[in-house]
Amino acid sequence: MFALNLANAQRTHMNLNRRKLLSWFGLGWLASLLPSSLIGCSEATPNVSTPASAPESVAAAPSGNFKEIGTVAQLDKDKVLVSSDKKIVVVRNPNDATKVLAVNATCTHKGCTVAWKSANKEFVCPCHDAKFAADGAVRQGPAHKPLQRYTAKIVDTKVLVST
Ligand code: FES
Repeated sequence: MFALNLANAQRTHMNLNRRKLLSWFGLGWLASLLPSSLIGCSEATPNVSTPASAPESVAAAPSGNFKEIGTVAQLDKDKVLVSSDKKIVVVRNPNDATKVLAVNATCTHKGCTVAWKSANKEFVCPCHDAKFAADGAVRQGPAHKPLQRYTAKIVDTKVLVST
């Protein structure tokens, strides 16, 4: 009889401990949510998707990182403009002479520097004779990839390229 009472008392005690433990975990779980809830309501949270701010940022954004490569007079005289670091080449667009095209002069085959041949209106690589159109498209291998292209424009008397 005594042993039975002792077993019941132990079971009751264990049930109490289990309840305490569950209530502590319950509170801990609730407490873990508290900081993120506070952050979610904080005024410090940046509001990045407000439509009202979009026109301001677009208006304030620069219109591109254009730099002058040369003048229109130089381009028309030499039929080609080359940047001071020899990496960018600008020519008139053969399909629309009012526009200009700019490409990276580094051949996509093995990295030699291509040269503009105005008679055929194409870039030719001196190393393995690859040929590229004015817009950088491959005309003849061994190169498979086009020359890297840049945005170019004429503004007044200047030729500008964005890299
Ligand atoms: Fe230009 Fe080979 S490096 S064709």
